[in-house]
Amino acid sequence: MKKYLVIGNPINHSLSPKLHNHWIKKNKIDAIYEKKLLIKSDLNEVISQVKSGEIDGINITLPFKNSAIPFVDELTLEAKKTQSINTIYCKNKKIIGHNTDIAGFELGLRHFKYDASKKKILILGAGGVVPSIIFALKKMGALHITLSNRTKSKAEDIKKNFPEIEIIDWGKIVEFDMIINATSIGLNNDDEIKLNYNDFGKNKFFYDVIYNPKQTNFLKKAKELGNMTDNGKMMFIYQAHQAFAIWHKIFPKIDIETIKLLDD
Ligand code: ATR
Repeated sequence: MKKYLVIGNPINHSLSPKLHNHWIKKNKIDAIYEKKLLIKSDLNEVISQVKSGEIDGINITLPFKNSAIPFVDELTLEAKKTQSINTIYCKNKKIIGHNTDIAGFELGLRHFKYDASKKKILILGAGGVVPSIIFALKKMGALHITLSNRTKSKAEDIKKNFPEIEIIDWGKIVEFDMIINATSIGLNNDDEIKLNYNDFGKNKFFYDVIYNPKQTNFLKKAKELGNMTDNGKMMFIYQAHQAFAIWHKIFPKIDIETIKLLDD
């Protein structure tokens, strides 16, 4: 039986096992996908188990997407550019670190039928997933990307890899077509991002990476004012879909049953 893992800290909340085990069952694959709580000093040992064949693949979640990099043999182009890995596999006896968050974000937007080309984008936050979002938006032809983070130095670190982005102070706003909440504000139901929603004009696209809760206050207010909104649920499903395809060479079905799995 093949063995797959998602590693992170915390890890209890992760819905990856539910999704992967559902697809494993549907496709009658002899495999199991489990979650494992780690501390940073465990990374080397767990990742080396992919080389020895004890583990067949690993998904990495917060906070190890960057700190796991030294323990793989090779990075894919996407992983290199974002300095972020969320999927590990073995190829020709080498451990490869790859990033499927990029494709996850792009396919999630396409699922929503949003065309990001020539659009002005404002991203709030500079956490682990932001370089992947920037990479995907650039690939999709976004016109201009502005980044705002409470801790400005973290935004400046991201700019080192993406010099074309603009950084503004936390609390400032620029004109945008699409605004993305990539902060953790909204994970708690009463969390609010202080924004003057009435100043933005209508028909903007508000996207929240958070999908649990389904509708953050950020999306709720935007919707009330007549804007388009979407959460990060499809991004999550598609990043898993891409990892599944790499490991099992099958693109499993994303149907209503799959999407509903994440609602329970
Ligand atoms: P990580 O930084 O470990 O990747 P994350 O959950 O992906 O974690 O990122 C959290 C993001 O939410 C950060 O951009 C953080 O801002 P800081 O870099 O200043 O910490 C942002 N964030 C969390 N709570 C916030 C708050 N109350 N106000 C503003 N930004 C907040």
